[in-house]
Amino acid sequence: MKNGLFFLAYCMLSLVFACCQQTKWPPLQEPTSTLYVAALAPFYHGVASGDPLADRVILWTRVTPATSLPEIKVNWQVATDSTFVSVYTAGETSTGPEKDYTVKVDASGLKPGQTYFYRFQALGTYSAVGKTKTLPTDNPQNISLAVVSCSNWEFGYFNAYAALAKEPIDAVVHLGDYIYEYQKGGYGDTTLNRKHIPEREIVSLQDYRLRYAQYHLDAGLREARSKIPFICIWDDHEVANNVYTTGAQNHQPDEGDFESRKNAARQAYYEWLPIRENKEHYRSFTYGNLLDLIMLDERLAGRTKPADSLADPTLISESQTMLGTEQLQWLKQNLINSKAQWKIIGNQVIFAEIEQSKVFPKAPKNLDSWDGYPFEQKSIRDFIKNTPIPNVVFVTGDTHASWAIQIREENNKNLAVELGTTSISSSNWNEYESDSAVIEKEKILISQNPQIVYGNARDHGYLYVRISAETLVAEWRYVKTNKEINPETFTGKKISIAPKTLSISELAD
Ligand SMILES: [Fe+2]
Repeated sequence: MKNGLFFLAYCMLSLVFACCQQTKWPPLQEPTSTLYVAALAPFYHGVASGDPLADRVILWTRVTPATSLPEIKVNWQVATDSTFVSVYTAGETSTGPEKDYTVKVDASGLKPGQTYFYRFQALGTYSAVGKTKTLPTDNPQNISLAVVSCSNWEFGYFNAYAALAKEPIDAVVHLGDYIYEYQKGGYGDTTLNRKHIPEREIVSLQDYRLRYAQYHLDAGLREARSKIPFICIWDDHEVANNVYTTGAQNHQPDEGDFESRKNAARQAYYEWLPIRENKEHYRSFTYGNLLDLIMLDERLAGRTKPADSLADPTLISESQTMLGTEQLQWLKQNLINSKAQWKIIGNQVIFAEIEQSKVFPKAPKNLDSWDGYPFEQKSIRDFIKNTPIPNVVFVTGDTHASWAIQIREENNKNLAVELGTTSISSSNWNEYESDSAVIEKEKILISQNPQIVYGNARDHGYLYVRISAETLVAEWRYVKTNKEINPETFTGKKISIAPKTLSISELAD
């Protein structure tokens, strides 16, 4: 009997221990393993770099063990040559299930404006070699950026990432919707064999981790991340559609506590992307005296719930904020302090005022964009005008369409320019209606908004921006298809922006 009681107590203790283990370290589940390329083991998700500064850069990888391990030792190396004859700096770190086996190193002591190669070693194997570049401190002649947004796994292959990986680019500026939270078939092309994993709408930490794992198994994204440093901000779908600090359009009460979901989404984002973690996500990058890149967080730092309609009195209230007091002040201080010729603002949603009643009669203004936050929108406009701040260019994602917009003062003088990048793969307007119907809508929207210089809501791709002291050239590069793997692109539009006057000229391809 005594032995029986002892055995029962032992079993119960074992069960409690097993449950605790389950809670703390979930067993290694890799439902995405059908997408693995065996030759990349155990670094199936490739390597990446991001948030470059003049003396440091974040290096990233993920080690996927064959079975759950509590800790994996990881060595890393940074070299000035791709064969690692000249190792410049190296170190050791570790990973484990508490960070989903992701690895992040802030490699410091680097020289400004230098190209470096890096790699990892774990479980007796070397990773693929990655390439990255630190920020210059002097007067660079040219800086090139690829501006991207809205990569949805289910809508197609990430050919645009594969294409931009071939360009001579200093950094990829990702304006968000890096993943989508929807369930299988919830928002995608169901005729393609690209189904979301997990199949449910993602809500928990494990869900978000798994979705990032899946997206990073696209060969195009893996290629781009290994070749070019990424500078990323989140938009809404990294948490849920139309998210703000205290809720989201696509978060329902039966999906649990919103704060827990937001924290899970944020944790997985920081684990899977090469980002330097700070209290706030907004941050800036200085490319000598040529460019300041100011990245805003328009979702989780200070955004209040959007107004329901144009008649909603909260719309015009001072307390209706996109950035919040602290971030707005930070933005203005950055603009005042900038010594750079060009100030590019990494912006998630359209900043310019747009009247869309003739195209979308039920939504004459997009209240999820800056038009839904007119107090802060005007405050920034007035600040640029009155200070004055020259050469401000907004780069914007979110709309799954391409735009060049001349933001003007009341007297018609140019105040700033806004360049919208199309989606990597998320639905353009012609996913649901014919090209000719969309072309007609583009024409109507432009005629209603003469500030729009260029609009295209039919093509996927990226925005290629080449910056020099004399001009900023913007080129919209589109993929021929994303329904099969094919990184061929064509140039849809090319413009130049003159400093001071901010006048826009069309360039031949
Ligand atoms: Fe999007």
